[in-house]
Amino acid sequence: MISLAAGVLYLSLAVTQANAKEFKIAVGDSSGSPQEALGLHFAQELKERTQGKHSVRLFLNGQLGSEQDTVNDAALGTLDFSLLAINNITPFSPSVGILTLPYMMQSLDEAVELTQGPIGQELIDNTVRDAGVRIVGWTYSGFRVLSNSKKPVETLDDLKGLLVRVPKNAIMIDTYKAWGINPTPMAWSETFAALQQKVVDGQDNPYMTIHSMNFHEVQQYITNLRYLFSIEPLIVSESVFQDQDDATQQAILEAGKAATEFSAGFLVESEDRIKQGLLAKGMQISEPADGEKAWIEKATQDVWPSYYDSIGGKDKVNAALRALGRDEI
Ligand code: MLT
Repeated sequence: MISLAAGVLYLSLAVTQANAKEFKIAVGDSSGSPQEALGLHFAQELKERTQGKHSVRLFLNGQLGSEQDTVNDAALGTLDFSLLAINNITPFSPSVGILTLPYMMQSLDEAVELTQGPIGQELIDNTVRDAGVRIVGWTYSGFRVLSNSKKPVETLDDLKGLLVRVPKNAIMIDTYKAWGINPTPMAWSETFAALQQKVVDGQDNPYMTIHSMNFHEVQQYITNLRYLFSIEPLIVSESVFQDQDDATQQAILEAGKAATEFSAGFLVESEDRIKQGLLAKGMQISEPADGEKAWIEKATQDVWPSYYDSIGGKDKVNAALRALGRDEI
């Protein structure tokens, strides 16, 4: 006959097992990317923090849909997590655009300051409110550099005649317009094929992403722009998050924080090696002319004022500039 104590133990184990979950994470990028590195670290941390109760499975390369579609799926609660570029969240929560204003962040330290300080917390709250998803981690991937298959680009004049793919992000589209060309907005999941089939000539993404996506097979020239420091959040469906018990919610938040710290170290350790690897594969890297002066002037003067309202007002931009120790506008 089963004793009362054994029965209680059996029941509690059964409940624990019944609540155990394998969370799915959609990942926009491929193996070797900063997104994958953060996702794997998050998986390990979550497993440890829940004593093995919960596990995580990564679906790389946009297998679960375009990055913007995964935001919709997570909002509906049909997807648990997604790892995607910040520019693909902005359409759902415009205040996040502060992180895609050209030349706002000029280093990893500045990206850390904006995402992990009070401004980052406000963006997390806004994203829950506007998009039904919660940012629980931040991947730091480095500056987005311009790649193309046709010619070295140093000046805005060199850019003329190139068909450049951009994410479906109004700020980035307007940045290229300010630089004098009409870019081609396209989902990330379609970009490699479009470059390969020469539907477009170029695109921009960090060195680490260009490397992990094997873009050297279809691109030859890189321009070392510093217009956008790429941040790629880990988001969780807010409804999935709210369905978890307190201990699991806490574990998700702590695992996200640990993975964020890991990501900054991963970038510092890997970026230069990856850049050398791209050179070894035959890519050529050019510096923008005049220390990027014309690129910076055009993008900041033409683009910033158009987005003060959607970001939440000029005050928000000034708060970010103050946080970075810069002059207000
Ligand atoms: C994009 O260009 O749409 C994104 O930056 C892709 C990514 O997630 O790396």
